[in-house]
Amino acid sequence: MAKRLDLKDVDIFYGTFHAVQNVSLSVPPRSVTAFIGPSGCGKSTVLRTLNRMHEVIPGAKVSGQVLLDGEDIYGDSVDPVEVRRTIGMVFQRPNPFPTMSIRDNVVAGKKLQGEKNKKSLDEIAERSLRGANLWNEVKDRLNKPGGGLSGGQQQRLCIARAIAVQPDVLLMDEPCSALDPISTLAIEDLIGELKKDYTIVIVTHNMQQAARVSDQTAFFNLRATGEPGQLVEIDDTDKIFSNPTQRATEDYISGRFG
Ligand SMILES: Nc1ncnc2c1ncn2[C@@H]1O[C@H](COP(=O)(O)OP(=O)(O)OP(=O)(O)O)[C@@H](O)[C@H]1O
Ligand SMILES: [Mg+2]
Repeated sequence: MAKRLDLKDVDIFYGTFHAVQNVSLSVPPRSVTAFIGPSGCGKSTVLRTLNRMHEVIPGAKVSGQVLLDGEDIYGDSVDPVEVRRTIGMVFQRPNPFPTMSIRDNVVAGKKLQGEKNKKSLDEIAERSLRGANLWNEVKDRLNKPGGGLSGGQQQRLCIARAIAVQPDVLLMDEPCSALDPISTLAIEDLIGELKKDYTIVIVTHNMQQAARVSDQTAFFNLRATGEPGQLVEIDDTDKIFSNPTQRATEDYISGRFG
């Protein structure tokens, strides 16, 4: 079930490099939050701390709190593997297992969790593919390799794979940047559907996309190279795009719109 996320005084490091400074923000359940900002300001880094993917990088550290419905995902008794199930992630480039069948791609996580019953797995595959708006296109070739789908279909397959394990939150890092405009619109429509059930955070470089899909927008910025990235402001998307509080946000947004 969709849950809320709260970041409190989060600082993120790669070894001695302080990549992101003092981020506090809240993501309500059943909503879409967009992260925008210039390259290198730390959007992907913040996203990866939200499901403990950051710490797999040697030397990487996080301080502060990331609360999922009030529980710190960095708590002593918390299993990072369970965190990554509850908080799923979709990456910039679709990354299905190319030789694995479409069906098995979708249920791979469920199988890892120990589900063996063929009928349940078939049901999960169908439900997830329907949820990702891909069922009709693939229902007659479920046993064909995932790598044989188009880029946009592969990305929806990855979304199906992410939702198959019934996460509480879906993180997406530029999920449309490798896709054509039609596939991009299909993913944007899908995000609109998915937010009825999930809490979604999406990183995007596309301002129009942020404006189209998100309820609130967070603008991150970098004062200078080598300085940590910072959250400049977070507010309702309409407000950020029409009347941001900070000058830096306005400059960034108007720069992009010409
Ligand atoms: N694995 C890593 N090791 C060391 N430094 C890293 C690593 N990944 C990112 N960084 C650094 O952390 C800072 C933030 O990077 P990040 O990838 O989060 O930016 P971003 O906002 O997602 O940029 P982009 O829009 O280009 O994707 C950058 O200075 C980057 O060089
Ligand atoms: Mg990035």
